[in-house]
Amino acid sequence: MTNASQSAREIPEGFELRTYKMRKSRVTASQAAALEKYSHDYLVGDGDSMVDIRDLTQCSTVVVEIGFGMGEATLALAESQRDVGVLAVDVHTPGIGRLLHEIAEHGLTNVRVFEGNGVALLENRIPDGHLDGLRLFFPDPWPKARHHKRRFVTTEHMNLVALKVRAGGFFHFATDWQDYADQAFEVLSTHPRWTLLPPAQGVAFAQPNERPRTRFEQRGIDAGRQITDLVAVRKTL
Ligand SMILES: C[S@@+](CC[C@H](N)C(=O)[O-])C[C@H]1O[C@@H](n2cnc3c(N)ncnc32)[C@H](O)[C@@H]1O
Repeated sequence: MTNASQSAREIPEGFELRTYKMRKSRVTASQAAALEKYSHDYLVGDGDSMVDIRDLTQCSTVVVEIGFGMGEATLALAESQRDVGVLAVDVHTPGIGRLLHEIAEHGLTNVRVFEGNGVALLENRIPDGHLDGLRLFFPDPWPKARHHKRRFVTTEHMNLVALKVRAGGFFHFATDWQDYADQAFEVLSTHPRWTLLPPAQGVAFAQPNERPRTRFEQRGIDAGRQITDLVAVRKTL
């Protein structure tokens, strides 16, 4: 049996290979109120039209963050860099409600939120070369070997990200899972369209985007896991 037919057997046609786990979490009253009140102002609508983040945020530098969770890092970065426009993406309704609430509370004009799959968003709604960077902080680790194909950082997804991030733009990844860090290192250090920066330079490049601590990062630290940040720059070719 060929590899192609093997993977065709593993992934039936029409089956969406999700990089996220469905989490059944309760939406609080304040999150529900924010969803009701602010979706119109800050949520990017469904549809198939292209999303121009520069136009939405009136910022010349624009990034996408996939999987913002409860939005701690999104909020802190957006507050400290009001000239950077952010499209924050997640499928987790309580987090979306919370972030909408915080955006309104802090009077942030540089953040918009997309509810849905970040991969589909990149594929269908973000113009090529539109982004100055993409952030992926503590994505679902999918620790079981048979689930590794669900991880976001794969050569295929990094091809897609390279299409959407301009030459010289960045991809910033953080994880508390060592074997995911190893996998991402392998993908990024061998990928023809990305240059992985040495650790110190990676951190420097991320300045002043210094990454605030997130909820999942704190969980990893509490469990004694080491944190890895990788920053890669999109090559010109
Ligand atoms: C482990 S949590 C981390 C959340 C946050 N970044 C943090 O560090 O606390 C991963 C988040 O990514 C979201 N996610 C995973 N894959 C996604 C995808 N393809 N599109 C949108 N969100 C995704 C999940 O719903 C979840 O909220």
